Amino acid sequence: MASVKWLPILIFVLLFCESDGAKNYNHQKDYLWKFVKDGSHKLVGDNFDVHNTSFASSPTVLSCYYEYNRPPVDKVDAFLCTHLLFIGLCDIDSNNRLFFPNVNVARDVMRLKKTNPQLKILLTLTPRNQRISNIVLNRNLSAVAVRSITSYLRTNDFDGFDIDWEFPSWSSDAKPTDKNGLTSFLKMLRGSFRSGPKKLLLTMATSAPWTISEKAYDIPSLNKYLDFVNIMNYDFHDFSWYEPFTGYNAPLFAKPLEIWLLSRLNTAYSTLYWVENGMDRSKILCGIPTYGRGYTLLFSFLHSVYAPAIGPSKFGDGLNYSMICDEQRGGLGGYTLEWDDDAKVPYMHKGRQWLAYEDERSVSLKAQWIKEQGFAGAMVFDLASDDWQGSCSYNLFPLIKAINRVLFD
Ligand SMILES: *[C@@H]1O[C@H](CO)[C@@H](O)[C@H](O)[C@H]1NC(C)=O
Ligand SMILES: *[C@@H]1O[C@H](CO)[C@@H](O)[C@H](O)[C@H]1NC(C)=O
Ligand SMILES: *[C@@H]1O[C@H](CO)[C@@H](O)[C@H](O)[C@H]1NC(C)=O
Repeated sequence: MASVKWLPILIFVLLFCESDGAKNYNHQKDYLWKFVKDGSHKLVGDNFDVHNTSFASSPTVLSCYYEYNRPPVDKVDAFLCTHLLFIGLCDIDSNNRLFFPNVNVARDVMRLKKTNPQLKILLTLTPRNQRISNIVLNRNLSAVAVRSITSYLRTNDFDGFDIDWEFPSWSSDAKPTDKNGLTSFLKMLRGSFRSGPKKLLLTMATSAPWTISEKAYDIPSLNKYLDFVNIMNYDFHDFSWYEPFTGYNAPLFAKPLEIWLLSRLNTAYSTLYWVENGMDRSKILCGIPTYGRGYTLLFSFLHSVYAPAIGPSKFGDGLNYSMICDEQRGGLGGYTLEWDDDAKVPYMHKGRQWLAYEDERSVSLKAQWIKEQGFAGAMVFDLASDDWQGSCSYNLFPLIKAINRVLFD
């Protein structure tokens, strides 16, 4: 993709400039590179860009990722989302044991259920690949993990468990046994969650790019054992040395000029891939980001999508919506605001800064599409990167509120 004389610059950028969006728990960004390296993927004809307007019968879900203290519990609107996915404090230690949030932290978060008794709070596991690989490969370790998860959730009044494993059988430190191991592990969890006084929910954060989904999951089994999949429809484009040009974090649809794999890197394609491969619409939560992605352009006068870029923006790689609003309001010269009517997303540029983000319009259009498709609802990543501080207006959490309004209208 890059011409050869670029390579030294690009490698420099890779080594010194690229910031790691670690807070986003997202390792999807290498899918393109792996696609190119591993030429084994076949591209077959697509027949799933049809719009299906049959509505799901189950109640609509708006599931939001929430990291402790981002924002503090007192600032979380307990009525904004139907489900909160509490992320960041559940992992696996070097002895293959799960560890969980401190009980005082759990109690603090559970206060939200006093305000809204309908709110469901799930705990998200963000496991290290090698450790979860060990667990799912070994029935005894799995049994111990399932027991400790079930007991922790029931003791601390959680409503379910969510697994954000990025990604089985796909990551460089993953094992080929992960795919089937995951299925057995989910089956055991499902069995354990079914018994007892209250049924617990079981969900997973799953990849959006089909190149990952195809390798990582046995989709019919996920359909059998999970209540919902949270499809991470973001990070489709992000600065890297093998993709040294601008792109949208979360385009809804393909642009007419996008060909081959580029035409598949969007929310609609990814989500319908899951439908085509055996996931019920009533179990699909289509991911919507509240964060954007920033680039530094090579030339300020080339500022369209797919313009050459030399690194992340001066604000870094991941952008929150408060910062976008601050930049739009202040500053001499100001940004030029653009709207891409194919991809249905905004971007803005000023000098060599090029920022792709979500606004109320883009997230509303995604929510509208979700309704038209009859999916269970939306997943949002995350509360922290929406404007909870009031930089945009007095209306806090404007993006998630916009999604909520469309979904429950
Ligand atoms: C739309 O989706 C429903 C439920 O998934 C399915 O039964 C129906 O056949 C679909 N219709 C079309 C036209 O694809
Ligand atoms: C699992 O536990 C059983 C009974 O404690 C033991 O006999 C067996 O060797 C263990 N298997 C593995 C793979 O550790
Ligand atoms: C939003 O991003 C800006 C710029 O990177 C940062 O200074 C600020 O702390 C962020 N706000 C939140 C709530 O994370």
